[in-house]
Parts: sequence; C-alpha cells; structure tokens
Amino acid sequence: VKKCSLSGSWVNDLGSNMTIGAVNGDGNFEGSYHTAVSASPNEIKVSPLQGSMQRGTNQKGQPTFGFTVNWSFSDSITVFTGQCFVDNDGKEVLKTMWLLRSRVESINNDWKATRAGRNTFIRTG
Ligand code: BTN
Repeated sequence: VKKCSLSGSWVNDLGSNMTIGAVNGDGNFEGSYHTAVSASPNEIKVSPLQGSMQRGTNQKGQPTFGFTVNWSFSDSITVFTGQCFVDNDGKEVLKTMWLLRSRVESINNDWKATRAGRNTFIRTG
C-alpha cells in the first residue's frame, strides 16, 4: 500500500503553496506557507509553519497531523488539522480544516475574531 508523506511541496484549492521539510523522530516538522489570499490589508509574505504528525504504531500510512502558520505580515494565526491520504487514483492528498484567528482590539469583538474552513492540498513536488 502506498504511503502518504507530508514532506515536500503542496498547493491547495485556493492556490496557496506550502513546503514541508523532513518529519523528525518525534513527528515534528517545519515549513513555509505562501497564502494566495488574505483577510489582512498588508502585503502577503511567506510565513513559517510548525507542526506535528501522529506516528502511532497501529496506523497504516495515512497519518493525521496538525500545524500552525504564524503569519509574518499580519497579527493573525492559523491552525490546520488534517489527514494525509492516498486517493483512489494513487495520488497523495491532504484533507484539512482550519481556524484563522484575527486580532481584535476588544473582548467585545471576540465573537467575530475566528474564521473556519477547509482546504484540500495536492502535491506539486
Ligand atoms: C491573514 O489573513 O491575516 C493571514 C492569511 C490567512 C490565509 C488563510 S489561512 C486559511 C485559508 N487557507 C489558505 O491557504 N489561506 C487562507
């Protein structure tokens, strides 16, 4: 059975690109994220990500993972969680959901500070 590896380059359904480096022995990894879209008026810049992959002994090569993107051009932060699949055509795909937390000035605006969504990533390299 083909395994799904997080390491490498990916693009999602919004056109955002990310590169993930090697996954270390603890399941931790780092990478970079170039978003195609933004909720901030600032100029988009490539931003760092840090994550963890689940390496449970019972799993058969389609691991779950999470990562955080700490945006370098805004006051926001995004967490992604998902699973690395090999689809029915044998292609690796990351199915994720995310929460984007924006900074608001006041606790009174907390209710509108978090966006949620989903992204699907396919391998580009
Ligand atoms: C910001 O808006 O302050 C930073 C950029 C946020 C981009 C979001 S994260 C979730 C979604 N998926 C993407 O690839 N880009 C957007």
